[in-house]
Amino acid sequence: MIRLEDVGHVYAAGTPWARRALRGVDLTIGPGERLLVLGPNGSGKSTLAWVVAGLLAPVEGTATLHGRPLGDVPGATAMTFQHARLQLFRPTVEADVRFGTRLDNGAVDNALEMVGLDPTVFRSRRVDELSGGQQRRVALAGALVRRPRLLVLDEPLAGLDLPGRRLLTTVLARLNREAEVAIMVVTHDVEDAYRLADRALVLRAGQVVADDDVGAVVGEAQP
Ligand SMILES: Nc1ncnc2c1ncn2[C@@H]1O[C@H](COP(=O)(O)OP(=O)(O)O)[C@@H](O)[C@H]1O
Ligand SMILES: [Mg+2]
Repeated sequence: MIRLEDVGHVYAAGTPWARRALRGVDLTIGPGERLLVLGPNGSGKSTLAWVVAGLLAPVEGTATLHGRPLGDVPGATAMTFQHARLQLFRPTVEADVRFGTRLDNGAVDNALEMVGLDPTVFRSRRVDELSGGQQRRVALAGALVRRPRLLVLDEPLAGLDLPGRRLLTTVLARLNREAEVAIMVVTHDVEDAYRLADRALVLRAGQVVADDDVGAVVGEAQP
């Protein structure tokens, strides 16, 4: 489905501030696959997420969906960011989930239900009154109404308390099952790895140094 071939990226290429973030990345993500991207800070995880989400065109190699450049198929992939509040542009939950679409109330309510937010309670809530975990789920609902084939989540559990982490993990598992959406989770901690993904890849200095079953990868990372 999604295919990266020999992808490399350099920020501010050709300037004295040039900074290489990815090098020679080959990656295929199939329909409904659950992939974890691990690696230390600065290893290129977020850059890879932006490329896979079609938000950043890499300076080297190709990134395609069914053979078309990812940047040319908006809506096929969606991304949520660690700082969910920055992704919410409208004052209320309903307006935000609907933002930029022509959806009816039913579709908005469906998306809210999918992320475990009761529409009758949350539809007209102000975004600023929500907890961090709830804001993250609203951002997720906003991504879902566009019916993406792949969801890219950058640090979806960071900063959440234990119940918040559990809830989001459950929501993601259900989305993957019921909406048949592939999931790529970017994280720097492996704690919830087993529940979020079946496959894991490890980045180091912009290169893929492991790509295997999550058990094999995480087992190696934690001797
Ligand atoms: N907008 C940017 N401009 C310049 N350099 C950047 C930018 N974003 C990331 N980088 C650099 O690219 C490298 C990879 O960063 P990033 O993809 O954010 O890694 P990670 O998400 O694993 O922390 C780092 O060296 C980082 O400093
Ligand atoms: Mg990052």
